[in-house]
Amino acid sequence: MVQQTREQWGTRAGFLMAAIGSAVGLGNIWRFPYIAYDNGGGAFLVPYLVALLTAGIPLLILEYSIGHRYRSSAPLAYRRISRPAEAIGWWQVAICFVIAVYYGAIIAWSASYIWFSVTEAWGDDPNGFFFGEYLQMSETPGGVTGYVPAVALPLIAVWVVVLAILALGIRKGVERANRIFIPLLVVLFLIMVVQALTLEGATTGLDALFTPDWSAMLDGGVWVAAYGQIFFSLSIGFGIMVTYASYLKRKADLTGSAMVAGFANSSFELLAGIGVFAALGFMATAAGSAVDEVATSGIGLAFIAFPQIISTLPFGGSVFGVLFFASLVIAGLSSLISIVEVVVSAVQDRVGLGRLQAVLMVGGVIALVSVLVFPTHEGLYYLDVFDHFINQYGIVLAALVTLIVFGWVLRRLPLFQEHSNAVSSIRLGAWWKITLGVVTPILLGFMMWDSLRAELA
Ligand code: PHE
Ligand code: NA
Repeated sequence: MVQQTREQWGTRAGFLMAAIGSAVGLGNIWRFPYIAYDNGGGAFLVPYLVALLTAGIPLLILEYSIGHRYRSSAPLAYRRISRPAEAIGWWQVAICFVIAVYYGAIIAWSASYIWFSVTEAWGDDPNGFFFGEYLQMSETPGGVTGYVPAVALPLIAVWVVVLAILALGIRKGVERANRIFIPLLVVLFLIMVVQALTLEGATTGLDALFTPDWSAMLDGGVWVAAYGQIFFSLSIGFGIMVTYASYLKRKADLTGSAMVAGFANSSFELLAGIGVFAALGFMATAAGSAVDEVATSGIGLAFIAFPQIISTLPFGGSVFGVLFFASLVIAGLSSLISIVEVVVSAVQDRVGLGRLQAVLMVGGVIALVSVLVFPTHEGLYYLDVFDHFINQYGIVLAALVTLIVFGWVLRRLPLFQEHSNAVSSIRLGAWWKITLGVVTPILLGFMMWDSLRAELA
């Protein structure tokens, strides 16, 4: 096989935009606000910041170091560390395959809702509209009883866009797309947050979110939630950052980039908390109920609560909806691109395919599965199953196994510390090895145990 030269990011800012684009996703907008609210409000920020500094950023640095040192996607990079470790890489590739298949579906729904925000298609029953009229969900799970073109068409469009960007390559596709997406996302989302802050009841919502419940800091479950949010939100443990860092130039500031990406992601998360809870405060005030009764996350927040808020707004409801759903689409697309790239580059490195072939074959299979499964009447049931599997086992298990294998079995943390120190602005001290070798594995083990216990209860 001819050794081709590996593609590279054009600029440092380009890599940063792509790394931030991968991190900032649906999790920032529809997961963080409720997790914070539900786990001590303002007091949640303490364990959250501890998790960012002791696990999030150190793990980002580790993934960047692995990708940068071995200049290959996850499975091949791990294989170069130690042959059997290649299996961990393929586990991560498998997780990315599964996430990609359903992440695309949520982006497609959000895209439809940009349009529905203008027409307010949901009338006065957003719940019935979403599950019944739009998804045409069947009453019972199992089997496949038909196909919904109104869901399939935006989904096909999402996949065409993602595959086209990936086919253009790292510099001309991924980097250029993120250089447009991220500034655009920040602007649209900021306008949405400002609009939310002007609503009656906004401060009630912010009070509900930020009023600290200090007793939460003594609750182990709150710490588990904080570490869980950081892992999910920074897309750690999926091989994504290994892959993106493999395209860095020889000279690259790994620690500095990890700090910027980590803090940018958390800033966006806080901003989302403010926007979402200002809007929920308005919703509660308009309905004469407590914020507690309307606070929610995920699908219920985006496709039920927000439509209700949009319809209740005295004016500018459509603008508000367009801004919100366009933000979801852009944040989602830049994450989806990174997830699919993990699979594409892994296969490319293994089989030696050209980029276009790899994108068409690998991306094509992912897109096909996505387009065949999710627009069916049962699509939402499958989404729930996938989501549960990923959250319970995918993330935590992959991160835990990575740390045990590289930290304890192969004892490579000193090597990566040295590698990072040779190129980075901020030098890593012993604290980095202690945190990744001891503190984080213990916490991850605790999280595994905690979710297994919940499963069996
Ligand atoms: N980090 C993304 C978010 O916060 C989610 C994500 C998870 C993206 C896994 C890629 C891989 O929404
Ligand atoms: Na995130």
